[in-house]
Parts: sequence; structure tokens; C-alpha cells
Amino acid sequence: TAEAQRLKSLPKAEVHLHLEGCFDATVIAQWAKLEGVVLPRPREDLFKFSGLADFLGFLDLACGLASTKERLVELSYGLSQRLADNGTGYADVIFNPTHWHAWQGRLGVMLEAIDAGFKEAEQDGLPTVGLCVSLLRTQSAEAAVELVESLSAMRHPRVVALSVDGNEATAGRTGPRFAEAFRRAGHAGLRRTVHAGESSGPEGVWDAVTLLGADRIDHGVRAIEDASLVEMLANRRIPLGVCPTSNLVLGVYPSIQEHPMERLRQAGVLVSVNTDDPALLGTSLMEEYRLCRQAFGWTDDVTKAMAHTSIEASFANVTVKAHLL
Ligand code: ADE
Ligand code: ZN
Repeated sequence: TAEAQRLKSLPKAEVHLHLEGCFDATVIAQWAKLEGVVLPRPREDLFKFSGLADFLGFLDLACGLASTKERLVELSYGLSQRLADNGTGYADVIFNPTHWHAWQGRLGVMLEAIDAGFKEAEQDGLPTVGLCVSLLRTQSAEAAVELVESLSAMRHPRVVALSVDGNEATAGRTGPRFAEAFRRAGHAGLRRTVHAGESSGPEGVWDAVTLLGADRIDHGVRAIEDASLVEMLANRRIPLGVCPTSNLVLGVYPSIQEHPMERLRQAGVLVSVNTDDPALLGTSLMEEYRLCRQAFGWTDDVTKAMAHTSIEASFANVTVKAHLL
């Protein structure tokens, strides 16, 4: 349709997208068969999740199947293809090493394989990707510092940020557990992004900013429950990487009408539109824009402004940004 064409050609970036969320059902079924792994549900129900905990358990299973370098290359190349299909010029891609069981203790080799897929894609004219290497929310302070030390030693040019994802509701308030790791990441020249305000309330967002020095918040939508937090995010221009369909599918909000995206935008918070885990959640970036336009009545000008914010909020280097803007 004409609207789809316009959304595709809109210059935009995606800032909240997990490599772990880019497995197609066919790929999972195929690799599971090759590995002799029995899937937990029949194929047609494979992506029916009961909530975030169930979803994260499934990520472990899917990522566990990617046991070879070729499979990692296929996944990262496929992600770049997905970006191109949506007219996305650049993406910050979150990659959480803890989910990939075949690669434990081999971060360097794993990064090289993922990087190889992205490089091949770029050489084929597909969009540029930066990696945000992620801690799992339930990890220890020591494991967090160890990851940052490894990243600092490698100085891999693909890696642009340190991230935290996972379930904030399982281990209670994280508080300052990752503060030292984030401080060191900043020293090493990495940007900082934190999942908060999804499975935590506003207190998780406060902690991300005040204890971890977050440059950006992934989700952050539950900030809406605290007016002083909304004001702080707007004043300090800390962007939120919002994922509407993810919040609906994983049960953060019962309907798009109750989703706070539009209220946050009108309060002056820098919100952007993202997919989180597009394959597993059955969405795409164009579909997220379409959903928001329909639900919130965004005009073409508002839509353009949102796409502009996504580029500004990204960790793309100045050359890539200038090219996109
Ligand atoms: N990892 C992948 N998607 C996630 C989400 N929505 N929340 C927390 N961790 C995640
Ligand atoms: Zn996420």
C-alpha cells in the first residue's frame, strides 16, 4: 500500500532490538530437528508466551540451538535483511551472551562470528549495525565487572554499548549491583542502555539513571506512573526505546489504548518506536509505526518527528547519523 511505502522510505533507526528475538519459527524447527531437541509446544503455538518469564525461558532454548559459527552468521545476516525490509538505516542490536549455551566462556569467538554476519550484510549493501552487549538482570556484580573487563580488553569496533536486560521482577530491585560495571564501561568509552520500567516500576528507571548513568532506557514506559520522573527524563533528554507490541504480547498493558507511549511523547519525553524481538513477537518496525499512527492518531509530521528521534537516540557514529538525517 501507499502508507507502507511511505513508512518504509521514512529515514529511521531502531534502538531496541535483540539478536535473540530474530529467530524465525522455521529456523527454530529446522535446527531443533538437526540437534534432536524437542520443542516445548506444537509448531503453531511455539510463539504463544504466557509472559516475560516464559518468553525469556524460550530465548534460552532458541539461542541454545545456534551452536555453530555458520548459524550465528545466518542469524546476524538475517537481522540486517530484516532491517532493510523495513527501511531501517541503522540499528543498535542488543546481544546477551548468557542465553547462548554453546558459547559460554568464548565471548571473543562469538563476537567474531556475529560480526562476520553483519560485515557480510554491510558489504551486500544492507544497513549498519552496532552491538550493545548485555548483562542479564539476575547476574552478580562480579560477573558484570568481568564482562566489562573482557569488552575493554577486546575493544571490538562493532561493540558500542553495555546493556542490561532480563527480568527485573525475579530478583527484586537491583539497586547498585551493576554500578561498578557501568562506571567502568563509561571509562572504556562504551555507551550505556538499561532495560527498566517494563518488569519494574518507575523505581527501576530512577535506578538506571542515577545508579548506572544510563544514556538511554529500553522500554521505560512505566515511568508514566511518576510525574517527577517523566519531568526528569524530558529535561535531561534521556530517550526511551519503546516497543508497543512487545508490551501488549508480554502483558505489560492490556491494550494499545492503555499504552502510555503517546502520553510520554506529549510530556516531552524522547520516545522512539521499536520492535524488541520482532520474529518471536510477530511484528516488524513498519507494523509498529502503523499501530502507533492508528492508535494515537499520529499525523505524517509526528511520524517523521518520531523517526527523527530514533536516529538522534541511536548510538550510530556521527558519519552514519549525518547520512541518515
Ligand atoms: N530480552 C529480550 N527481550 C526482552 C524484554 N522485553 N525484556 C527483558 N529482556 C528481554
Ligand atoms: Zn528488550
